[in-house]
Amino acid sequence: PRSFSRHLSCPGTIAASVGSEEQPSAVAETGIEDKTLQKKFSEVQKERREQAQRTVLIHCPNNINEKKFLKYLSQHGPVNNHFFYESFGLFAVVEFCQKDSINSLQNGTHTPTQSTEAAIPFKSRFLNLRLKNPSSQVSAQPFVRTTNQSPPSSKKLFELLSYAESIEEQLNTLLQAFQLTEENVRLRHLTCSLIEDIAAAYFPSCVIRPFGSSVNTFGKLGCDLDMFLDLDETGKLDVHKNTGNFLMEFKVKNVPSERIATQKILSVIGECLDNFGPGCVGVQKILNARCPLVRFSHQASGFQCDLTANNSIALKSSELLYIYGSLDSRVRALVFSVRCWARAHSLTSSIPGAWITNFSLTVMVIFFLQRRSPPILPTLDSLKSIADAEDRCILEGNNCTFIQDVNKIQPSGNTETLELLIKEFFEYFGNFAFNKNSINIRQGREQNKPDSSPLYIQNPFETSLNISKNVSQNQLQKFVELARDSAWILEQEDKNQPFSSSRQPWGLAALLLPPGSGHTSLSRQKKKKPMSEKVKGLLASIKSNSPDRSTDTSGK
Ligand code: CTP
Ligand code: MG
Repeated sequence: PRSFSRHLSCPGTIAASVGSEEQPSAVAETGIEDKTLQKKFSEVQKERREQAQRTVLIHCPNNINEKKFLKYLSQHGPVNNHFFYESFGLFAVVEFCQKDSINSLQNGTHTPTQSTEAAIPFKSRFLNLRLKNPSSQVSAQPFVRTTNQSPPSSKKLFELLSYAESIEEQLNTLLQAFQLTEENVRLRHLTCSLIEDIAAAYFPSCVIRPFGSSVNTFGKLGCDLDMFLDLDETGKLDVHKNTGNFLMEFKVKNVPSERIATQKILSVIGECLDNFGPGCVGVQKILNARCPLVRFSHQASGFQCDLTANNSIALKSSELLYIYGSLDSRVRALVFSVRCWARAHSLTSSIPGAWITNFSLTVMVIFFLQRRSPPILPTLDSLKSIADAEDRCILEGNNCTFIQDVNKIQPSGNTETLELLIKEFFEYFGNFAFNKNSINIRQGREQNKPDSSPLYIQNPFETSLNISKNVSQNQLQKFVELARDSAWILEQEDKNQPFSSSRQPWGLAALLLPPGSGHTSLSRQKKKKPMSEKVKGLLASIKSNSPDRSTDTSGK
């Protein structure tokens, strides 16, 4: 028998669905707690999509009576789940047990008529509830309890971190505070489902699939919602139906390239969203990008959405990250802290540019964990070598095969603490030979850089691509310096054991402080910096009147 147990992890709230009301959890089924079965990514996505299709979004009056509201809705069928949240007003997410209930609800719903403006009568699952007789409804009822959809403020985070008793606990606290909640995950899938209804006006069997941090277990509250229009489902359905000697094809319009086809489709969907998508505002078509997209904000949910098309490789890489995030609880704790650290020091930004991205940082953490001895995470090649026939996956000519069932992967025997790992992470990348080596999670070892990009991180599936091609030498340099400083801060704390003795931010909190905020470690660190750099900084601030990005410590 192994002397260690798997570091059990709950990958975001996605795994939480395993234990939700209607589905018995794996724990309940087996009765063995440390053998909790993790669901496959595709199963989770399918369940979430189906759940979203039984769900409506309702804009409610602030003084709504929850009991009466639920009673009113249950005329259309039993309600499985509901929650309220505040955005620009009060909203309710209501999940029925059956899809039919939605038709029933919509049948009794009308399009409003206004005297000054005209309504575009698009009937969606985004509804507005009005009180027929407001005065009689405003009873002594307490206001409904709302769920929070935003990340904690910096102040709140520092407070939470100060209560922790070890760096290990701080990393886990940060994870708990920032990870997507069950409600937020539901709202993300619902938003995709609502957009799907709009796209389905043109492509009836299309699917809008969320990908990226919304589903890969590394999403932070407030992160954007990446989604893509999947039209493949249409083709797949037809293949099975062909019998006999004839082959029937759809007569279609042809265009010179896949890219042009994507641009045309996204352009039309973008118009639809702009013209009659309820709550879709600020629609921008960014069709000349390497990966054409439509960016918009979904006002009711508060999500900034990026819609692309035919992006199945990105979905596969989300699945790979989901596997890595589910394998060992230390992975997500480390990734969340590194992402927050990078954001606090303006290494990442919500504006596209020469900055390092969260996706790159995540891959760097995975690579680092593959390099531990014994490794905490397996290489992508080894995940491919244990794949079954059903895992086989070729996308656009790229072999994207890897084992899809997390339960079949041997847990790591490595028992290093998060405190050690975060320190070693900063040490490792503070001294990495970025000038000659690339980062490669497929093989789990560094390789010679194939070109002169400052930071080269091989795309795990499209192996000729560098996922951090955009990163400038300056940004990389800044990353390296901050990593070294952070390793140094943690080392000092180790020596001084300052935890309980001082009210100063310590451990992870000290790493998240903006430069120059007066922390003892940081001021010591400042002394160490060469004078010329201070002078350079002063000169730069005199020369430029533009706002200094480095003062922005708010989370994305
Ligand atoms: N992606 C990629 N190559 C890149 C950038 C992105 O393959 N150079 C894919 C990844 O699968 C990534 C997804 O596109 O997860 C979404 O990209 P992005 O929104 O930039 O990253 P997220 O992982 O969603 O992280 P964030 O929370 O910052 O949005
Ligand atoms: Mg994203």
